[in-house]
Amino acid sequence: MAAIYFSLCVILGIASTINGRPRTEDERVMIDEFLPALLDRLQNNPEYAFLLDSDSPPRSNRQQNSPVQQQENWPQNNLKLGQVAGVAVDNNGDVLVFHRGDRAWGARSFDYNNELSQVEQNKGPIRNATILRLNKNGTVIQRLGANRFFMPHGLTVDKKGNLWVTDVGLHQVIKIPVDPTDAGLVLGEAMKPGSDNEHFCKPTDVAVASNGHFFVSDGYCNGRIMKFTKDGMLIKTWGKPTNNPVEFSADDELFIPHSITLIEESNLVAVADREHGRIQLFTAGITDPNDTGRFVKSISNSRFGKVFAISYDPTDKMLYVVNGPTGSNKVEGFTVDLDGKIRDTWTPRNMNFDEPHDVAVSPDGHQVYVAEIRPNRITKFNK
Ligand SMILES: *[C@@H]1O[C@H](CO)[C@@H](O)[C@H](O)[C@H]1NC(C)=O
Ligand SMILES: *[C@@H]1O[C@H](CO)[C@@H](O)[C@H](O)[C@H]1NC(C)=O
Ligand SMILES: *[C@@H]1O[C@H](CO)[C@@H](O)[C@H](O)[C@H]1NC(C)=O
Repeated sequence: MAAIYFSLCVILGIASTINGRPRTEDERVMIDEFLPALLDRLQNNPEYAFLLDSDSPPRSNRQQNSPVQQQENWPQNNLKLGQVAGVAVDNNGDVLVFHRGDRAWGARSFDYNNELSQVEQNKGPIRNATILRLNKNGTVIQRLGANRFFMPHGLTVDKKGNLWVTDVGLHQVIKIPVDPTDAGLVLGEAMKPGSDNEHFCKPTDVAVASNGHFFVSDGYCNGRIMKFTKDGMLIKTWGKPTNNPVEFSADDELFIPHSITLIEESNLVAVADREHGRIQLFTAGITDPNDTGRFVKSISNSRFGKVFAISYDPTDKMLYVVNGPTGSNKVEGFTVDLDGKIRDTWTPRNMNFDEPHDVAVSPDGHQVYVAEIRPNRITKFNK
């Protein structure tokens, strides 16, 4: 910003001296009041984006100008949460939260072969209700998922209200149906990591299409995306794991696909390639099932650092993105258009994000929720 200020001063001929004489008080007031207002107008007008530092978003990070604003005092302040791994919003606007109760993912949780450590397995499943349903007011209206999960990760709700969760300890993808006559689905063998068609290895997230087909990002070890029919028959697998830096990785080489979301009207599935700090878009095969998993484009920006989670909002055609701590990057939320431009950035009011792990936009497009694993919290934003 200092560079822009300076350039504008030069352009407008209003440096601290004017024609070699110190500026007068009137001129100083004019400059001090006029410049910020001008800058503000420039920042909010995409046509003048070329004047701004290329690494600045068109809007600055000020809440009063930001269309994504935290709603304070939400949820009810006595809500106890463990590491909040997943968040989703159903068609009612109810918020579903998937948290780890009294467990936490630490350095010794997994063995080198990616199995949950014996110590962790011996604890048995988490006794807390790991899935909470909150209404818009932040009141818990349903608790489920007690005595079932070992290391909660992703949570998705489909258009019918079914919940889809992934457990990286169990290495399973589980559908929890709304309809009690629906048997649900359990994919993957409990506690057994693998890379064949019957196993996952720390699967991270699920995205469900309107026709019931679903996509799994699998995950920490396999670096692949799998597409299934609504009954859980495998249709297609693509992507390869890598731990090479992004500049030495092909478009389908993924370094922890950590979150997945559909851009259904464009026939795309977007994958947060976490450690590579990019979002990879592939064909979803919605219109032509033969064309599934073909790389279409990459969205990246040096401000991302690592991309932890993404959620697509069809009402404004924007991707809502959260990054994570990388040392140099600010941890924040991004509103990103499908051309890959950052349209806005946002954080909680008077507070920073620490370790965001998931983001969800409500189906009506009015709310954005961010789940964090440190501190353990869920933050609501209105837009
Ligand atoms: C989990 O359950 C234990 C035992 O009842 C309780 O002490 C703890 O507060 C619960 N933690 C969370 C985050 O719900
Ligand atoms: C939320 O709170 C408002 C104001 O107290 C109330 O009118 C509304 O019914 C509540 N909504 C729900 C879903 O509980
Ligand atoms: C998909 O491929 C099959 C086999 O090659 C072909 O018979 C079918 O017509 C194709 N479907 C579409 C929608 O192109």
